[in-house]
Amino acid sequence: MSEEPIGICLLGSGVVGGGVIRLLTEQAEMLRRRAGLSFEIRHVVVRDLKKHAGIHPNLPVTTNAEAAIDDPKTRIVIELIGGTTTAGTLVERALRQGKPVVTANKSLLALRGPELFALARKHNACIAFEASCGGGIPIIDAICRGLVANRIDALVGIVNGTCNTILTRMSRNGWSYATALEEAQRLGFAEADPTLDVSGRDAAQKLAVLASLAFNVHVAEKDIYVEGIEKIQPADIQFARELGYVIKLLAIADHDADHRLILRVHPTLVHQDDVLAEVSGGFNAISIYGHALGHALFYGRGAGQMPTASAVVADLVNVAIGTTQLAFSHLKIFPDTAERANVVPIDQLHSRYYLRVTVKDEPGVMAHVSHALGQQGISLSAILQRESDESKLVPVVITTHLAQEGAVRRALKEIDASPMIGAPTVCLRVIDQPKEFSGG
Ligand SMILES: NC(=O)c1ccc[n+]([C@@H]2O[C@H](COP(=O)([O-])OP(=O)(O)OC[C@H]3O[C@@H](n4cnc5c(N)ncnc54)[C@H](OP(=O)(O)O)[C@@H]3O)[C@@H](O)[C@H]2O)c1
Repeated sequence: MSEEPIGICLLGSGVVGGGVIRLLTEQAEMLRRRAGLSFEIRHVVVRDLKKHAGIHPNLPVTTNAEAAIDDPKTRIVIELIGGTTTAGTLVERALRQGKPVVTANKSLLALRGPELFALARKHNACIAFEASCGGGIPIIDAICRGLVANRIDALVGIVNGTCNTILTRMSRNGWSYATALEEAQRLGFAEADPTLDVSGRDAAQKLAVLASLAFNVHVAEKDIYVEGIEKIQPADIQFARELGYVIKLLAIADHDADHRLILRVHPTLVHQDDVLAEVSGGFNAISIYGHALGHALFYGRGAGQMPTASAVVADLVNVAIGTTQLAFSHLKIFPDTAERANVVPIDQLHSRYYLRVTVKDEPGVMAHVSHALGQQGISLSAILQRESDESKLVPVVITTHLAQEGAVRRALKEIDASPMIGAPTVCLRVIDQPKEFSGG
């Protein structure tokens, strides 16, 4: 691009937008030296001008997004508003004018990715979205470029820092889910309304974006089976530990022998020797298995002001020097050029399972449980049992060998229907990654 400063329109100046302003201001000289580029923030678009009074006195802050995008000197639009409504309309507006868009918005891409990529293509523009998954970790660049010679067989990640923070605190402090959530909210690691994070939806939206690129298909959020962390109890964390496992919310994409994708987000028992077991607090980590490279782990800060801004500004530089547009034009890996994913229904998943059955302290109850599992062809790998307390309810923890999800659900239906069972059985999946995935 030319030596004239590149005009930027920044839509949103909240957590991430503020970080982008900081990087572009404080690192202007380094960016000029490294990339031969200078950027001019021509517009900062916000919702409430009063909130921003005096914060950036030298920057043009406005509420008129349309005029800011349409300004002929706006060459690149950065969308950091979030959500799918206003953000979607404004991204469309920029693309229709052939202006490249940099965004951190996984919700928008998971919902409307193919349509927006097609719109960009039609108008010779492009979309850069590194910050949409894994915060500051350059995972999208790695999948699209560094790993382009690999058939990717599996992607297993901790991609939601809020859930990982809550589970880490439950595990280390023996806290309940409610206490850990409250503490995470107090410290600013969880939103006032944490639903998007703790329900697993945020992780599913990121998995939709990542799996689309890794497997060259179009994965929609609705293709992904999702369970959140709300029902995890300290007892399960404790039993998992006794069995040698740690509970993590994992986003998993892999395929069966017929190349159908298996896509899921759920709390998972991860073996304590697995590198993912070590990932704590707000950190993210994504394990990728490429057929040529083998196992690669991408680890770092998955959110936060400066890590996310780091990815946004990297995208900005790549758009400005033209590499994003070149990759977008040449690589047939974006969801608008790909077929819809062929997805395995969750009841056909093969996994190992952790079951916590709450049995009444009565003769015959274990025979009932074993019979129900045996009838569905489910074999057991370990059993842990406690003595009964004054309630006369005994937790019995069972881990299974590989079993089909549908068979496990049928067995649990039969188990829980018995009057000898005191509470619905807790069922979690256990992941045993190929040896190369583990730290051992
Ligand atoms: N925060 C993170 O750590 C993180 C990490 C990765 C990705 N992301 C993604 O980055 C994006 C931005 O997140 P954030 O945390 O920076 O959000 P945020 O702090 O809530 O900031 C949103 C900004 O957008 C502005 N805005 C909201 N609605 C608007 C509207 N209708 N018109 C004009 N401006 C509007 C807000 O204006 P006011 O300031 O006037 O309210 C605010 O400046 C989201 O897509 C998010 O998913 C965030």
